[in-house]
Amino acid sequence: MTPGPITPPLPLRTERLLLRTVVAEDRAAIGAYCADPEVTRYLPFPALDDQALTQRVDRLVAATAPAAVGEFLALAVEHEGVLVGDLMLRFSAAHGPDEAPSIAELGWVFGPGYAGRGFATEAARALVDLAFSTYPLHRLMAQLDPRNTRSAALCERLGMTHEAHTREDYPDREGGWSDTAVYGLLRREWESGRAG
Ligand SMILES: CC(C)(COP(=O)(O)OP(=O)(O)OC[C@H]1O[C@@H](n2cnc3c(N)ncnc32)[C@H](O)[C@@H]1OP(=O)(O)O)[C@@H](O)C(=O)NCCC(=O)NCCS
Repeated sequence: MTPGPITPPLPLRTERLLLRTVVAEDRAAIGAYCADPEVTRYLPFPALDDQALTQRVDRLVAATAPAAVGEFLALAVEHEGVLVGDLMLRFSAAHGPDEAPSIAELGWVFGPGYAGRGFATEAARALVDLAFSTYPLHRLMAQLDPRNTRSAALCERLGMTHEAHTREDYPDREGGWSDTAVYGLLRREWESGRAG
């Protein structure tokens, strides 16, 4: 059984950041980093052109109250009134799409101009807290190309466990295959304060 949509408690303030839903006016700021091939190198989409950016922003704007497997929450992250990145929480389930979501995947993209200041860590920590305190989730996970060392380091800072490294299971954009690293964080670990 899938529960109805739960509206997350937003906006959310952290020490330096504001997390809120994405609005159409964020298009230019999101476009500024999502059109950069360095930023999208390890993302599931290539650098966005105008049309792809419109499609992405439309999807992010609509992603405000996920309920079912496959649906997601998208958040814009602001620092001093400027959008510095965006976050995603995508629901999945342990045993197929008819179940209530029990697992969610975390995702993050930050503008390179705002890297190295701990913004992604601070925002993702707030998303982990929001995820476990708002939804009846058992597990959070992240999956990434192991060559994406900054994203892997972020998972470690969040207290996630490196659980798996699968070989050549993801088709890359050059017609080859890349490996996948899987990181996980269980509710009981979050409750016990293990999350960083
Ligand atoms: C993944 C990504 C979000 C990580 O960004 P990041 O800048 O490395 O992460 P943070 O913002 O948390 O910054 C961490 C750095 O700031 C430093 N830092 C400074 N102040 C800090 C603070 N208050 N808290 C934590 N870290 C702090 C850390 O020491 C770390 O430095 P280091 O990189 O020299 O080790 C970013 O690289 C990105 O958007 N990449 C492109 C998109 C992408 O690949 N997404 C993931 C797909 S799986």
